Amino acid sequence: MSLTFAATPNAAPLGAAERDAILANPGFGQHMTDHMVRATWRQGEGWGGAELTAYGPIALDPAAAVLHYAPEIFEGLKAYRHADGSVWTFRPDKNAERLQASARRMVLPELPVEDFLESLRVLVEADEPWVPAAGDGEKSLYLRPFMFGSNAFLGLKPVTEATYMCIASPAASIFVGGPKPITLWICEDYARAGAGGTGAAKCGGNYASALRGQLEGAQNGCDQAIFLDSSTHTYVDELGGMNVFFVTKDGKLVTPELTGTILPGITRMSVLELAKEFDLVAEERKVEIQEWKDGVASGDILEVFACGTAAIITPIGGLKWNGGEAPSTAGERGGEVTRGIRERLLSLQQGRSEDSYGWMHRLV
Ligand code: PLP
Ligand code: COI
Repeated sequence: MSLTFAATPNAAPLGAAERDAILANPGFGQHMTDHMVRATWRQGEGWGGAELTAYGPIALDPAAAVLHYAPEIFEGLKAYRHADGSVWTFRPDKNAERLQASARRMVLPELPVEDFLESLRVLVEADEPWVPAAGDGEKSLYLRPFMFGSNAFLGLKPVTEATYMCIASPAASIFVGGPKPITLWICEDYARAGAGGTGAAKCGGNYASALRGQLEGAQNGCDQAIFLDSSTHTYVDELGGMNVFFVTKDGKLVTPELTGTILPGITRMSVLELAKEFDLVAEERKVEIQEWKDGVASGDILEVFACGTAAIITPIGGLKWNGGEAPSTAGERGGEVTRGIRERLLSLQQGRSEDSYGWMHRLV
């Protein structure tokens, strides 16, 4: 039986003037909406206790599994307002399936797809005034579903209780100032994920482990770090929160193949499908970091970009590593293909072009 979220609306939501001030300049991940949803899974009982309540702190037992062994997984997707006022999200079934795949890897319970979708609908319906207006740049309402082991037990074993929640936060572009090319640091000392590890799961630990490399990049004047395969340091994996694509001179749109250490991004999956609209042949294969360095120098690689829900499509400019750097192919605003794919994706998400792929899902 599917979940019904019992609603206790926030009795004191933020006033319209304050909310509008936030929506005028939301940044990313800084301001939360008035509500949240949650549901609890208990071993032997399954999912229950589904509710929508006012946003606020939660009580956790200090022995809760998540605080010690990090059984935690999450998702990220956006709600977009279309010109007629309706609110939509992009391929949420894929997020639901990825949350289930992450749950399997981390031995957490799987939330049924229909319950995941209902949790988004209930939250966005309650927080509908928080969805930025259509045509207001690239603003959207970022949705952050997550799940963690909440039973109190210090032994190391699969959880017996899990809490699922979804919160929401209005968002502008993740990078201040919009789609300006970012500089990447090749992280050779720290890996984000290894063979047999959790790289393909969207679990919090992967992000904690990526921070050291990102910090090293920042100390070297870079915006983000690019991680390599942990065994040979030869092949390109991905960024800390984005997948990577290369546009080649011979008409290919190349991205590293999914080897188990890379997050299967939903933007990545969609860009691979959009390639044909740009007369590019999509190719998933291993990409050597040396091929990247050589390719931008020789002109065999015309453009490089990163993609993800928060980042949308972000042009990649220069590449730096310990003892060297490669020139940027991105100019001031990214190459033509990067900008074209970015605009195509945004036009679908924002409802400015016909949803010919059937990717959009109406929430409100
Ligand atoms: N890679 C990592 C590590 C991420 O965290 C994300 C963001 O969710 C992505 C790639 C892109 O995934 P998606 O396009 O589903 O947002
Ligand atoms: C997203 O793009 O939704 C992510 O989860 C990336 C996160 C690091 C902000």
